[in-house]
Amino acid sequence: MGKMDDRVAVVTGSASGIGKAIAELFVKEGAQVLVTDIQDELGQRFAESLGKRAAFIHADVSLEDDVKGMIDHAVDTYGRLDCLVNNAGMGGVKGEIESIPVSGFDQTIAILLRGPFLGMKYAAPVMKRQGGGNIVNISSVAGLRGISQNHPYSAAKAAILQLTRTVAMELAYYKIRVNSICPGSIVSSIFGAAKGMSSEESVKTYENLTKLFEKAQPIRRAGLPEDIANAALWLASDDSSFVTGHALVVDGGISAGQQWPQQMRWIDAIESAIGFKSPE
Ligand SMILES: NC(=O)c1ccc[n+]([C@@H]2O[C@H](COP(=O)([O-])OP(=O)(O)OC[C@H]3O[C@@H](n4cnc5c(N)ncnc54)[C@H](O)[C@@H]3O)[C@@H](O)[C@H]2O)c1
Repeated sequence: MGKMDDRVAVVTGSASGIGKAIAELFVKEGAQVLVTDIQDELGQRFAESLGKRAAFIHADVSLEDDVKGMIDHAVDTYGRLDCLVNNAGMGGVKGEIESIPVSGFDQTIAILLRGPFLGMKYAAPVMKRQGGGNIVNISSVAGLRGISQNHPYSAAKAAILQLTRTVAMELAYYKIRVNSICPGSIVSSIFGAAKGMSSEESVKTYENLTKLFEKAQPIRRAGLPEDIANAALWLASDDSSFVTGHALVVDGGISAGQQWPQQMRWIDAIESAIGFKSPE
């Protein structure tokens, strides 16, 4: 028996990376999954590879009509919507605060914040009518701490955490749980996409990213889309039935504090400042 048997799930931005891994795992656990993305060919091919329990539909999460159409399509085709994963995303416009164009700021917020807002806006009435449901929003550790030159992305990801809480408070009465996940450094196409590469081209960057991310956090291995998919499955399934409004951090410990070599250097610096150790 699968943890998602007979459930219908929509996963946005699931042609690649984290969303793809979530869709794959949900299908394996018995769900009917609607794969949605703006990369049509890739999304279509991926959905076909999953067999009868998956289908693809184009949906740009920044556009209200697309998001409404995506939810309507799931309900018209499968008769219900049990789970929505608001995952679609990109790196957003980066740079020093004074260099960020208003159009870039607006576009980043439209995809990363308006997207999940629209998803919840249109999923909530469906889930209320059917007597329950589950929403998982993909945020980031960038929403928990400041990362310089990553302003709109970090701001959007922090806002998702709060939107998750406010919507969770409202929808708990209707047996709809709403949670978020904060991934750390995960090997995916998002970094290549920020430089104009397609998801398929970005696969070439995975080896180098894996080497880099092995050193990025206390747990000395690269984060993988499957790590986030496992967390999404837990939140979407009945295993977490008493959990709502939560931000589940899946980051190999990167946001928990300073790693010990840095901590030791800091302690050494303090000791030398107060005269108990000679400065290096
Ligand atoms: N990879 C990481 O290190 C990391 C860390 C923290 C959070 N995240 C978040 O995880 C989510 C998934 O990212 P990923 O790492 O799998 O990247 P990815 O590039 O592999 O996947 C993102 C997918 O979203 C799609 N997409 C982009 N804009 C869209 C739009 N307007 N409408 C619909 N789909 C759109 C892309 O086509 C792509 O298939 C994002 O929200 C991202 O911010 C990623």
